Amino acid sequence: MYSEKVMDHFKNPRNMGEMKDPDGVGKVGNPICGDVMWVFIKVDDSGGEERIKDIRFQTFGCVAAIATSSMTTELAKGKTLEEALEISNSDVAGALKGLPPIKMHCSNLAADALHAAIQDYISKKVRKGKKRRK
Ligand code: FES
Repeated sequence: MYSEKVMDHFKNPRNMGEMKDPDGVGKVGNPICGDVMWVFIKVDDSGGEERIKDIRFQTFGCVAAIATSSMTTELAKGKTLEEALEISNSDVAGALKGLPPIKMHCSNLAADALHAAIQDYISKKVRKGKKRRK
């Protein structure tokens, strides 16, 4: 049912676990099955652009949800925020050599949680900037 790539990422998930003091956190729930995923990011802005220097995930979900979470972290690591925001759920499924049609809804968690973590980072930065200006 699953590609070898999916099984590899399910059995050996990359970047799994919580992160201490993340710069951004994204949480997404899957309305179809109730599964949940968190993405934590650390952003490096020292080189004039903002890049994801570290990323971790925690997923309470099925094989496809864990594999897509793992693949999403691999795709996003080292990318600028703009590049990471362009990673779509279908990019993730494609990088895993496809998912069974019945499992496509599971892939919705991963990129959405990544985008939510980036939005969280951006809104925290805006809040910090406002405080500094006061
Ligand atoms: Fe819930 Fe796959 S069944 S994410």
